[in-house]
Amino acid sequence: MSSIVISIGGSIISGEKLNLELMKKISKTLAIIDSYDKFGIVVGGGKLARTYISDLREYNINDNILDEIGINATRINALAMTTFFDNVNSKIPTNINDAAELSHNYRYVIMGGTEPGHTTDTVSVLFAERIGAEILINATSVDGVYSSDPKKDKNAVKYDKLTYDEAIELSIKNSTGAGSNVFMDLTSLTIAKRSKIKIFVINGNYMDQYKNIMYNGKCNGTVIS
Ligand SMILES: Nc1ncnc2c1ncn2[C@@H]1O[C@H](COP(=O)(O)OP(=O)(O)OP(=O)(O)O)[C@@H](O)[C@H]1O
Ligand SMILES: [Mg+2]
Repeated sequence: MSSIVISIGGSIISGEKLNLELMKKISKTLAIIDSYDKFGIVVGGGKLARTYISDLREYNINDNILDEIGINATRINALAMTTFFDNVNSKIPTNINDAAELSHNYRYVIMGGTEPGHTTDTVSVLFAERIGAEILINATSVDGVYSSDPKKDKNAVKYDKLTYDEAIELSIKNSTGAGSNVFMDLTSLTIAKRSKIKIFVINGNYMDQYKNIMYNGKCNGTVIS
């Protein structure tokens, strides 16, 4: 049997309200999957993190502390997520070593961020690399990776597939520091490239997308490989 890592973008679970219904739906979807038996789930910061980061930034707080605060927000989101799962860790690991160890004991290991300078995108790829997951699902609030930010540019075009190098180039163009909105950050893509981890960027609100990847290796989003 094998492992898979799913990065749940904070954008789909922490908006104006916490999207608890979605957490529940994801847990129900994963519960019946039998093509994988270990699931690493990394949860992002969403609105909770962005609110703290943008408000504090006005007071000239440095980026390292802003990251630390954002990381704590991701851990609160991760903890909320655990309440919808069985056979899951009850404490949120703060590094990949601890997360990997927990994965020996539980079907699901749910975590948030680890250290300043690493987004949860990076954490999810590192987690995949460590536990030998060949596939990473990046579940976010748009339908895949576009030529530019689809929320800002009406003419943005969605890519069905990208090479690691193409994704890296696009990510660099989009990135603007702590809490920036980018499909995946540079570090995460670089690590995925070195370990040939196949990334599926999908709209995480649709359960058929997760199932199609886990059973058929296909999605309507963007495949980075
Ligand atoms: N080239 C691009 N392709 C797709 N989305 C992009 C692109 N550039 C910027 N974005 C923006 O990135 C957003 C997704 O990243 P964002 O970091 O906001 O969400 P997330 O990663 O799902 O959540 P979180 O970072 O809180 O975990 C999309 O909503 C989109 O507006
Ligand atoms: Mg993000």
